[in-house]
Amino acid sequence: MATIGNMLKRSFSTNVAKHAIQNVTIIGGGLMGSGIAQVTAQAGQSVTLVDVSNEILKKSETAIQTSIARVAKKLHKDDPTAAKQLSEGVLSRIKYVHDTEKSVENADLIIEAIIENIEIKHKLFKVLDQAAPKNTLFASNTSSLSIAEIASVTKRKDKFGGLHFFNPVPVMKLLEVIRIPETCDETYNSMMAWGKSIGKTCITCKDTPGFVVNRLLVPYIAEAVRMLERGDASAEDIDTAMKLGAGYPMGPLELADYTGLDTGVFILEGWHKKFPDNPLFKPVELQKKLVEQGKLGRKSGEGFYKYSK
Ligand code: CAA
Ligand code: NAD
Repeated sequence: MATIGNMLKRSFSTNVAKHAIQNVTIIGGGLMGSGIAQVTAQAGQSVTLVDVSNEILKKSETAIQTSIARVAKKLHKDDPTAAKQLSEGVLSRIKYVHDTEKSVENADLIIEAIIENIEIKHKLFKVLDQAAPKNTLFASNTSSLSIAEIASVTKRKDKFGGLHFFNPVPVMKLLEVIRIPETCDETYNSMMAWGKSIGKTCITCKDTPGFVVNRLLVPYIAEAVRMLERGDASAEDIDTAMKLGAGYPMGPLELADYTGLDTGVFILEGWHKKFPDNPLFKPVELQKKLVEQGKLGRKSGEGFYKYSK
């Protein structure tokens, strides 16, 4: 049975092999972008992390410092000097930039991890398509949107794919690599090899709603919220049941709080609009009500549970 410590170790030790992709630009320095920046820098690659303001980038930097310190402490339990060297090496490979066009000048790969909104993603990719060198590969980390729809505004669909990471990125070993019909073999093979170079296990899925993980996870969480809504069981008992009866690391309601209730509502509403006849995609009233009340889960301090800072 793999422990988290072993997963982190394996992930780090597989990171030494040099890969053709050495300069990675990540757009969006939030929860996911910061994690992707960290694991890429852990693999020895140069990272440029982009967000809309220096203030947000400062927060990204703090989040990465905390996370890499945690990883380094775990990997080098009895050797604080080695832990410090690891942290410093990773931090030195990440540049924080708020000029999007400048940030992609030398990029081999650009990974978009901005807000889950198709219009805003389109606006960004139009700019990137103009500004990036013609060989630069493009990827989106979207949770629920169609990769083909995101790529549609660019003139390099052959160099476009989905690279879907999982939260928390430094710990979760999976990377879903999505190809659209236009993605060429070279791009797809490069993305698979790059995923491996940063220590992830890659799987492939067609460009379908939620790919593999979210297609299963989102309806599962929605069903747990419906159980709570009907009063079938308490939140604590639903979560305990799935942890102790099914061996999940978190119960479905804890996980909903962890990924953000707003994210869950957004995904279901988007899919429901596109596929109104699929009962699995039906939005859940209780989840919507909590979001309307500003209860977004861990990030806002309350969701199905209350969190202290
Ligand atoms: N950075 C670095 N290390 C971290 C970390 C982070 N952000 N978060 C956790 N860790 C590591 C730490 O090394 C920690 O080790 P220590 O015990 O030495 O501190 C270890 O993980 C365990 O963490 P915790 O003790 O804090 O808590 P835990 O044992 O409950 O594990 C968890 C936390 C890894 C998140 C685990 O509960 C888990 O796997 N939960 C399920 C997460 C999941 O399903 N993610 C997918 C969500 S779906 C998604 O992401 C896709 C989407 O599009 C929405
Ligand atoms: P987040 O809100 O934490 O971060 C998004 C960041 O993007 C913010 O810092 C915002 O300022 C920045 N941003 C917005 N527009 C920008 C632009 N035009 N240029 C540069 N930066 C911009 O969101 P997140 O949870 O990190 O999610 C990001 C993406 O990853 C979404 O597509 C989401 O669906 C996907 N995703 C999320 C999770 C999760 O568990 N949260 C998991 C996998 C994938």
